[in-house]
Amino acid sequence: MITESKRSRLRDLLSMLKVGEEAKYVSGEHISRALDISREAVWKYISMLRGYGYRIDAKPRVGYMLVQRPDKLYPWEIMLELGKCDMVKEIIYYEQVESTQDVALRLAEQDRDSILVVAERQSRGRGRTSRLWISPDGGIWFSLIIKPRVNVRDVTLLSLATALAVCNTINSRFNFAARIKWPNDVIINYKKVAGILIDMSIEHDAINYAVVGIGVNANVSIDSIERMISNTDKHYYGSTSLMHELGKAVDRVRLLASLLRELEHIYSRLAYRDEILAAIRSVMMLGPVRVIEGEGNDAFIDGVAIGVDDDGSLLVKSYGMIKKVTSGYVHVRYVR
Ligand code: BTN
Repeated sequence: MITESKRSRLRDLLSMLKVGEEAKYVSGEHISRALDISREAVWKYISMLRGYGYRIDAKPRVGYMLVQRPDKLYPWEIMLELGKCDMVKEIIYYEQVESTQDVALRLAEQDRDSILVVAERQSRGRGRTSRLWISPDGGIWFSLIIKPRVNVRDVTLLSLATALAVCNTINSRFNFAARIKWPNDVIINYKKVAGILIDMSIEHDAINYAVVGIGVNANVSIDSIERMISNTDKHYYGSTSLMHELGKAVDRVRLLASLLRELEHIYSRLAYRDEILAAIRSVMMLGPVRVIEGEGNDAFIDGVAIGVDDDGSLLVKSYGMIKKVTSGYVHVRYVR
């Protein structure tokens, strides 16, 4: 396990070694002076970065140049891209873990806060209603511990606001028209690109803590997801990934950092209900739906989703009546 001080050294070193068009050789002496470490230590950190998959060119008497970064969600990369963000004080990183949500929940139970748990892969990712969440390499799988100052009756709002942040981030970065599929799936062209799971501890009508788990199919191969899903007995409705929709891979570190900034912004506005509700309504997917109760498809109503109520419930018009859909154990399937 890499210590916090080594992590911040790697971050400082990387901030000096720019990649891409800005890339240039930086002398070992310059790095050693700027970071106040010996030349040997510079060499040690360069070797460490190489060990993490960075391609760094070294020219005798000239210096070092960063040629390529690995496509990894390393904490120092996230911190560098994120800058100041009060919502994230610590990052716990895994190459592979069963579920970031379970790790974060254990920490939250120990009263830890503002921690981001992120993984390259999850072997037992959890989805809503006890589903398995397929989490291969290339996705963005993370859980964040927050202490939101919202009343228990606004839990649905918190979850919709989270989906709003994901939509806004995807739409502004890639110019998509991603929408919220109630209650908190994010879809592009009727296919799911991101899912949200929020676990909460509630005491005396107040939210003690919430663990916000978000999975974004960023650079995930859809064929591999479909193959994995076909090996499970779980109900499946089309998935997509940003890479699939764009025809090229996205920079996951930049996307995650933008998403965290957007989450921080939207959570800071939760008290302004009307503003948040208006933003949610502007990206909510409406139209013909089938509302299915429970896992078995036996009890359902067909209707048209016509809006979102002030408490966050979905308003479905069916045979002239308006039904409020509130329970998280209800599936809403949009009918095309
Ligand atoms: C859903 O749409 O059913 C919710 C999916 C939530 C998946 C994320 S990935 C990171 C975090 N860890 C988990 O085990 N689940 C959530």
